[in-house]
Amino acid sequence: MASVIVYPAKCLRGRLTVPGDKSISHRYALLAAISNGRSTIERYAPGADCASTLSCLATLGVDIHKSLPSCQSSDTRVTIEGRGLRGLVPPAAPLNAGNSGTTLRLLSGILAGQPFHSEITGDSSLRRRPMKRIIDPLTQMGAKVIGHHDRPPILVQGSSLQGIDFTPPVPSAQVKSTVLLAGLQATGDTTVREQQATRDHTERAFSQFGINVKRHTDSITVQGGQHPTGSHVVVPGDVSSAAFWATAAAAIPDSDITLLDVGLNPTRVAFLTILERFGTLIETSNIAELGGEPRGQIRVRYNGTSSIEIGETEVPSLIDELPALAALATHGGSLRVTGAGELRHKESDRITDLASGLRALGASVEEWEDGFHVMGGHQLTGGAADATGDHRLAMAFAIAALGGKGPSEIHNAEAVDVSYPGFFETLASLRVQMDDNDAS
Ligand code: S3P
Repeated sequence: MASVIVYPAKCLRGRLTVPGDKSISHRYALLAAISNGRSTIERYAPGADCASTLSCLATLGVDIHKSLPSCQSSDTRVTIEGRGLRGLVPPAAPLNAGNSGTTLRLLSGILAGQPFHSEITGDSSLRRRPMKRIIDPLTQMGAKVIGHHDRPPILVQGSSLQGIDFTPPVPSAQVKSTVLLAGLQATGDTTVREQQATRDHTERAFSQFGINVKRHTDSITVQGGQHPTGSHVVVPGDVSSAAFWATAAAAIPDSDITLLDVGLNPTRVAFLTILERFGTLIETSNIAELGGEPRGQIRVRYNGTSSIEIGETEVPSLIDELPALAALATHGGSLRVTGAGELRHKESDRITDLASGLRALGASVEEWEDGFHVMGGHQLTGGAADATGDHRLAMAFAIAALGGKGPSEIHNAEAVDVSYPGFFETLASLRVQMDDNDAS
């Protein structure tokens, strides 16, 4: 699947579940691997990123079993035999994190405390991503961590670690989690301070695996030497994947989408507030907390468009949803984002590559160093957009293309498999076709 054709849609309608959450799946697998005892993870995310985490863990001697609990569902159950806090084995080959920054960074935090040498690398996109943000704190804690010009491959010589009091240079849940995972193996306390809150799945997962964390408004502290215990956990649907359907429903008149059993962690749902500012009708219901992570149902209905602005303070809580929100604004209204320079360090340069792809579909987009402006108000022509190997760009371009005058082609669309295998099949099932006299 190198290129996919996306046809304009009259609207999108349906009820669906999305794959398990990628961020949460990584954390559960990593903690399960260093736990005492067996863990079972239900609805483990099916994409390539979370598979990379499992394959790295297998190379570190972890016994992992995958199964499909029922023939009606494609949800995967992963059973992991924990090796304990100090039980990983030296890898015989470099660990390959593929496209996954979360795998590489969080695993570095674990490896920093293991008494052996390891190398972690990834694909060409991951090898471009900045790692100084984790190298610095792990070095301060006592590990020897070297990057190639601060980029992967990363060489980690694990050591006995000391706790630190650390403020990440940029708001980042990956950096926070890397330091907390290293802190678990350190002497004394490790504190991470956050000026802007980021997703708190690591803190919640720690509690699930029997680790005490002290949480204050702007800091998290973990005491070293605590041993995680195996757990049975159920991953909610990935709200960042759900965001593509939510924005599509917000974009196209008469759309009505219900997303079932999706994660509603408050540090991840800021995009729903943005959709409300846009005018969209949002209803959340059936909310329950299972395994420390809130989840429930989200119904999204089109209700007009407006102009929205997103500034620096809001960015960390919706960093992964900005491509979807940009796609929304191509349908109508407008979106102006500032303070989002971090987008340039994601799986692609999510400012330049996003702007180029949307322009290729006929959108008016202005970009600058730390943001962009999508000016809706005219119908897209349709065209050919390159996802440049970035899963979220492939999905964002598909959502924009639904509003084209004619069909569009998304190149490198197979990138969706990183987080959402089956995305295009689901799109086909939700799409209501244009009438004969409209574009088809
Ligand atoms: C993630 C944190 C975010 C996010 C990424 C997943 C995580 O990255 O963009 O997709 O699982 O912790 P940063 O920590 O770099 O902001």
